[in-house]
Amino acid sequence: MCGIVAHVGSRDCVPILLEGLAQLEYRGYDSAGLAVANRSGGLRVHKAKTRVAGLGSSLPARFKGGPGIGHTRWATHGEPNDINAHPHVVGPVAVVHNGIIENADELRAKLIAEGAEFVSETDSEVLAHLIARAGGYLPGSSGDDLREAGDDLRGGSDLRGGGGDLRGGGDGARGGGGDLRGARGGLEEAVRQALTAVVGTYGIAVLDARYPDRIVAARNGSPVALGIGDKEMFVASDVAALVRYTRQVVHLDDGEVATVRADGFHTSTLDARTTTHEPSLIEADLRAYSADGYTHFMRKEIHEQPRTVERALRGRLEERFHTAHLGGLNIDARQARAIRRVKILGCGSAYYAGEVGAQLIEELARIPADAEAASEFRYRNPVVEADTLYIAVSQSGETHDTLAAVRELKRKGGRVIGVVNAVGTAIARECEGGVYLHAGPEISVTSTKTFTATCVVFSLLALHLGRIHDLSPADGARVIAGLHALPGQVTEILGQEERIAELAKDLAGYHGMFFVGRVRGWPIAREGAQKLKEVSYLHAEAYPASELKHGPLALVGPDLPTVAIVPEDELRDKNISTLGEIKARRGRILAVGHGTLDPRLADDVVEVPKNEPELDPILLSVPLQLLAYHAAVTLGNDVDKPRNLAKSVTVE
Ligand code: G6P
Repeated sequence: MCGIVAHVGSRDCVPILLEGLAQLEYRGYDSAGLAVANRSGGLRVHKAKTRVAGLGSSLPARFKGGPGIGHTRWATHGEPNDINAHPHVVGPVAVVHNGIIENADELRAKLIAEGAEFVSETDSEVLAHLIARAGGYLPGSSGDDLREAGDDLRGGSDLRGGGGDLRGGGDGARGGGGDLRGARGGLEEAVRQALTAVVGTYGIAVLDARYPDRIVAARNGSPVALGIGDKEMFVASDVAALVRYTRQVVHLDDGEVATVRADGFHTSTLDARTTTHEPSLIEADLRAYSADGYTHFMRKEIHEQPRTVERALRGRLEERFHTAHLGGLNIDARQARAIRRVKILGCGSAYYAGEVGAQLIEELARIPADAEAASEFRYRNPVVEADTLYIAVSQSGETHDTLAAVRELKRKGGRVIGVVNAVGTAIARECEGGVYLHAGPEISVTSTKTFTATCVVFSLLALHLGRIHDLSPADGARVIAGLHALPGQVTEILGQEERIAELAKDLAGYHGMFFVGRVRGWPIAREGAQKLKEVSYLHAEAYPASELKHGPLALVGPDLPTVAIVPEDELRDKNISTLGEIKARRGRILAVGHGTLDPRLADDVVEVPKNEPELDPILLSVPLQLLAYHAAVTLGNDVDKPRNLAKSVTVE
């Protein structure tokens, strides 16, 4: 989704903003823009419906300065165009905003009645008006000249003239609301005041030409991190934009405002109570943010999986007791014994990984467990039970629906732990404890390595709970041996890429596909279908193999192939009879599983190394990732930036 980058320091901020925005491209966007304070006390603004590289190359040579704010926009209110792109500028104030202002229409009408003139269709422009007003800027003052200059922006041009004119407006307004002498002063107060009128979600960065030493940022439901540099500071909606410059970050909490200057920052609540933060260290390898010789991040991340699995396991197996040790759970053995039910919540691939997790917990720990889409759970007034362990799953740690589900649970007294990849993020902070995936940043919108890492973490959790409940030491040892075998087995599957690519090329010629699986294979079929849809745009429908005959079989025929998950387990015969049902209708079948199959039953087979039955799903999903990837490549799609999708959905 939208991305924010801001910088305060003595150097020219423009290259930093452009580099930061480029790092956020993976999140998905449709337009981009920058605003910087120039030396003569004005603002320069440049924004357009373009890629970040296009924005950079179209900047006039004199477009330099600082502090500055930058943005990549994902349209919600108003179509993607130059005018709707951020920053939004009103008088001396420029604002970039992620999130959705729910009462924007009402506020806009009120502001218009008071004389404000809007140029865009966005909800975000409301913020710029509110902040400018709260900061003492009045429409009709010399700042109006700026708006005229702003109109030139339609062509994506520079706001030079406006910047110059701003000086007058700025000086006038300083007396009205600003206090440059105080450490934080007028801009922070103006932002605070403006935000009290707003209902909705936001992550914002605000620049005011009258305060050329600071950026004010605020968060409510949309992530904002401060990056601490050497006599310079950064603000970003995603640490990916910061890692090149600093490893020290502070994640703002909801309802917090920060004033950021070159020499430090100050955070407080919306009602002006000072808050404190210990900076945390981002443990990111810079290579994780580059495609490192691969054509796409998706392929790179698929190939990282043997290491991802190793990292998820590292230091967590307690061979002596045939169990797993998960330090951050904050649940002792007695409390674990008292757990009567487990409910796992997540969205998209996190939800499907949660389904794998629920089966693992039920199988190994014999605790009733299920997974549900967090986006549904949060709205259905769920019954929250004291002896249920709730688990929120999220790669980004910022998915709005999952965060809302966590908060709803906490409000009702539920106990929630997290299975999260991105360290220190909102979901991780809201939970009482949990387990990090340690999968490193996932850049491809389509989740691959974090799906696998989540399943591995659930195996550990299931083993841990199982050994506290009734899993025998022998079974514990069996699962541990299976976990040790996983990295090598993933490598073996990756070795079959060429053949899977050939199959994908062929299957990409169909208009869609069925994915079927039974019990352990069912979430894998769902995730496989999701992967294919996301990147190839082919229609893909997942069905429990057992349900095929209850309706969807009507669609099976020579023009609709089926990908069938056929592991070597107690349900193999059942799966084989499903293949027979499909074959009887002349449907093409790609079977993904173990052992050989009668060629009359499956046109093609991808053989996956056999692990323990409970752990097999982890391996079965890997060929489906490769299938989706190569189908998308065959169809010429932009694999890392699939249409209409964002890496992390931080809005409703
Ligand atoms: C978006 C992405 C999905 C992802 C889901 C959950 O919808 O497009 O690929 O699985 O969010 O993301 P999370 O960061 O919470 O795991």
